[in-house]
Amino acid sequence: MIKEQIRDRIFKELIDENVIDLFQRNMMPINELMSYYRCAIMEVETKFKVLNEQFSLQYDRNPIETIKTRLKSPEGIVKKIKRKDLSFSLQSIEENINDIAGIRVICSFPEDIYLLAECLLKQDDITLIEVKDYIKNPKESGYRSLHLIIEVPIFLENEKKNMKVEVQLRTIAMDFWASLEHKLRYKKDIPQEEAELLAKELVECANISADLDNRMEQIRNRIAKNK
Ligand code: GTP
Ligand code: MG
Repeated sequence: MIKEQIRDRIFKELIDENVIDLFQRNMMPINELMSYYRCAIMEVETKFKVLNEQFSLQYDRNPIETIKTRLKSPEGIVKKIKRKDLSFSLQSIEENINDIAGIRVICSFPEDIYLLAECLLKQDDITLIEVKDYIKNPKESGYRSLHLIIEVPIFLENEKKNMKVEVQLRTIAMDFWASLEHKLRYKKDIPQEEAELLAKELVECANISADLDNRMEQIRNRIAKNK
C-alpha cells in the first residue's frame, strides 16, 4: 500500500498537466504506436532467431546465448521527453526517442557480436540509423556493448511502417558486468572520495571481464583449429 502511494506521488511529480493531457487526448494513437513498436521487436527478434538457427546448422554452434526484449514504459518515455526537452507530441516521440523498442542479444564470444551485427545489417529491409561501438571504445564507466539503432518495416493491413529499434549486442561477460553495475548505481549516498574509488574499481572489473572474454575466445579458436 505504502509502496503504491509512493509510486503515485512520484508519478504525479514526474508528469505535469501537459503530459496527462497528451496521454488522454492520444490514448488510442499511443496504444497503437506502442503496438507498432511491439511488432518491430517481434520482427527483429525473429531475425536473430533465424540467424542463430542457421549458424547452428552450418557451423554446429549457437552464437546467441539469450535474447531479451523490452518496450519502454510510458513513465520512461515521459522522463526522456522531459530530459531531452522535446515537445509533447506523438510525432516528436517517434522521431526523437530511439529506444522505445529495445532488444538485447547476449552472445557467447566477442567475435559473434560483429558477425551477427553484420548479418543483420546486410538484410535489405534493415536501415542502419546509428552505431555506437562501446566495445572498441568503452564508456568511462567501463561499459561495453555494441549498440545499433535500426529501422525495420512492419506490414500492417494497408500500409508499411518503418519503426526504430535499439539493438544492444554484448557477451555474457559484458552483460554480467552491466547488470551488476546497474544495480550498484542506485546506491547514491556514498561520499565523493569513496565513490571515485568504487568507480575505478568497477572499470578495473570491466577490464578483467573483457580480458576473460578474449581468453575464452582464444580457447574457442584453438579448439576450432584442432578440429
Ligand atoms: P539513454 O538516454 O540512457 O538511452 O542513453 P543514450 O541515448 O546516450 O544511449 P547509450 O547508447 O549511451 O546508452 C543506452 C543504454 O545503454 C542504457 O539505457 C543502458 O541500457 C546501457 N548503458 C549505457 N551506459 C551504461 C553504463 O555505464 N552502465 C550500464 N550498466 N549500462 C549502460
Ligand atoms: Mg535508453
